[in-house]
Amino acid sequence: MKFRTKAIHLGNERDAQTGAVVPPIHVASTFVQHQAGEWREFDYSRSGNPTRKGLEETLAALEGGCGALAFASGMAATHAATMLLRSGDHILAGSDIYGGTYRLLHKIVNRAGIEVSLAPATDLTAFAQAIRPTTKLIWIESPGNPLMSITDIAAVAQLAQRHDCLLGVDNTFASPVLTRPLELGADIVMHSATKYLGGHSDVLGGALVVKDPELFKQLYFVQNATGGVLGPFDAFLVSRGLKTLAIRMLAQCETAQTLAEWLTNDPRVTRVLYPGLAQHPGHDIARRQMLGGFGAMLTFEVAGDYAQAKRVAESTKLFQLAVSLGAVESLIEQPASMSHASYDAAARAAFGITDGLIRLSIGLEDVEDLQADLDQALQA
Ligand SMILES: Cc1ncc(COP(=O)(O)O)c(C=O)c1O
Repeated sequence: MKFRTKAIHLGNERDAQTGAVVPPIHVASTFVQHQAGEWREFDYSRSGNPTRKGLEETLAALEGGCGALAFASGMAATHAATMLLRSGDHILAGSDIYGGTYRLLHKIVNRAGIEVSLAPATDLTAFAQAIRPTTKLIWIESPGNPLMSITDIAAVAQLAQRHDCLLGVDNTFASPVLTRPLELGADIVMHSATKYLGGHSDVLGGALVVKDPELFKQLYFVQNATGGVLGPFDAFLVSRGLKTLAIRMLAQCETAQTLAEWLTNDPRVTRVLYPGLAQHPGHDIARRQMLGGFGAMLTFEVAGDYAQAKRVAESTKLFQLAVSLGAVESLIEQPASMSHASYDAAARAAFGITDGLIRLSIGLEDVEDLQADLDQALQA
């Protein structure tokens, strides 16, 4: 089966009893057993739920994994992956990552005695040098957030293998439509399902997908023991979103490419960060690694300072001023004051997250309308 067929048919089998083409949402928290101590497939919804299982089957198929686990949010999924580690272990993360991941690693995970450091994953030499004998997990995003940096996932996977550590890739921005990290050698794929997978800004969710059954067992143990599972109604919404994921993603990529090219030629804009532009430093890797498009996130910098970027971000009418991304409606935000406010100011400065940056999540509206909206906001 090809991608779009899998997204619609796998994990979405019709209901045998009624013939309903959409499987029912199973809301039961507990399941009757035939005998004491003899467990059937489902016993308690934290340990397994049929609706969640359907979504997990679809996700595993789309990412090319042996199994997937659906969580209550992207952060719950990332946290579960870090719970594979113990005190004294080290996590090396790329420096262009979601602000909430930065906060989780530096302000929660470190409390368990796990060391954390960041290095630019785009610079393989510097990244390799940052690996320590205690490094057990490498965590990257590509495209990165908010600078849209492109990391060579296959090269980092080889690095991780050489140093005997796991590679986790937050694939939220690319989605499995554009990039499948497990096929490139990664061990864990993580998603904020809140974004492209759900696709409609109406659900919060997360997922981990792996290709090694033993690693799946370990992560399932963590999930069941700690309980950050996705609820059945939310699992249904993500499953529904997945059915149109490929079509949405490719259309949104096309609009993003058009807008990136237009912004590049605008004198009011000092820098456009979009991997689909030939001048983007990661363009060649992106052409190899991304399938069918360069993503629907784009960042640009306006001339001027914090106040000017804030003014532009507050002046759009169609682009709504909000964090989050990946849905049908376009969003605009200022990373320094919004998505990346949880970075320490010094870390923001060190990693190039300047005050003049504006990040766009390109939705499904007509490109002409989005361009006109940006044009009037830049005028402001
Ligand atoms: C790239 C990325 N990873 C992880 C997350 C966290 O996901 P959630 O908000 O679903 O917990 C986000 C949320 O914005 C994100 O953009």
